[in-house]
Amino acid sequence: MDYSRAKTYLKQRGQEQLLDYYGELSDEEKKELLQDIENTNFSILKNIKKSKTAKRGKITPIGAVSLKDIKRCRLQFEAVGLSLLEEGKVGAVLLAGGQGSRLGFDGPKGMYNIGITRELSIFEQQMKNISDVVSLAGRHFPLFIMTSVINNDATRKFFEERDYFGYPRDMVHFFVQDVAPACDFDGKVFLDRKNRVALTPNGNGGWYSSLINSGLNKIIERDNIEWLNVYSVDNVLQRICDPCFIGATIMKRCRCGAKVVRKVNADEKVGVLCNENGKPAIVEYYEMPEKLKNKKKKGELLYCYGVTLNYLFNVHDLNATLSGKLPYHLAEKAIAHVENGVRVTPAEPCGYKFETLVVDMVKMMGSCLAYEVEREKEFAPIKNATGVDSVETARELLKKNGVTL
Ligand code: UTP
Repeated sequence: MDYSRAKTYLKQRGQEQLLDYYGELSDEEKKELLQDIENTNFSILKNIKKSKTAKRGKITPIGAVSLKDIKRCRLQFEAVGLSLLEEGKVGAVLLAGGQGSRLGFDGPKGMYNIGITRELSIFEQQMKNISDVVSLAGRHFPLFIMTSVINNDATRKFFEERDYFGYPRDMVHFFVQDVAPACDFDGKVFLDRKNRVALTPNGNGGWYSSLINSGLNKIIERDNIEWLNVYSVDNVLQRICDPCFIGATIMKRCRCGAKVVRKVNADEKVGVLCNENGKPAIVEYYEMPEKLKNKKKKGELLYCYGVTLNYLFNVHDLNATLSGKLPYHLAEKAIAHVENGVRVTPAEPCGYKFETLVVDMVKMMGSCLAYEVEREKEFAPIKNATGVDSVETARELLKKNGVTL
């Protein structure tokens, strides 16, 4: 695309501001900017209107395999899950493409040191959790790590320098998640630099399409992997490829499973697994109507199952379902951009990022097992530096679980 084509192309889309500094750029920089413009999917911006008018269906409570049920059936569930792991039919997917802006750490969140007297990164602690299952199954399983254009190099280097925490190098596969343009509240796409369009990671729902775009699905096909355990980078107590969870999801004939915890109270800021128009779906805490949020039966919250971002997906069903597109959600964020010729990094939200969410994949799957886990043993999310769901609370929980910090 040359300059005059770009000008017309942007005018048709109301985005001429992207050429504001074109005259100041070197030849190389001009090329970069024109290339970015060509690569940007401007149609994503239509989602500003759609997302603001999106309405939820009829919400009703969902049943779960409770802690009590699991205690009763543990041996059967574990046997089924373990045999699948032994056959190499399960892979793990770590979602590490987020920007962790709430934590305020300048680098990939997984590199954050949660140790006190020794160095212990979030990545290392999670790799330790994986090694427990590896010992049980007697084999390693493929680990796919989703990074972003922003943190890919640093993440890979960190793993490389630490010898993949003892995991076989050829079983770890990195892939970079796709991007979407970021814009101001009027829908004008930002420039990240005078010669670069602001393109940011497109949300954690992009993991499967990004994995396919990277070609890594060939490994899944080659190795006949049937189930993928998808998990977030920020829960340091996360059990990965848990045989009992895998077995329960299979025995209950579900296409996917979600590890859930009982909410501590109605106001806990966690997405809740419910039924929407009769199908499992996750309602974010800010979308939950007050009346439903507080509804109780026999003294217990009716909408009590908070998701922990640990899901098990059947690969065959993912392929069958995901030809349908995931919706984009608007996230109001502080986005670094060029303003009056200067690059600014605002402290407050100044525009929108467009994100697809893994929770929408659950809805598309049509069936999902809510599998209850013990909060104290499996849920220590690190979202903030201090306070709720923070480094402080996670450290306390790690100590309670016998981890030396
Ligand atoms: P969060 O929703 O907590 O987002 O991610 P975040 O970007 O890490 O943190 P904040 O909101 O800026 O503070 C939940 C999980 O989804 C991953 C994160 O890495 C984390 O494991 N994620 C999020 C992605 O992989 N890609 C994204 O674009 C967003």
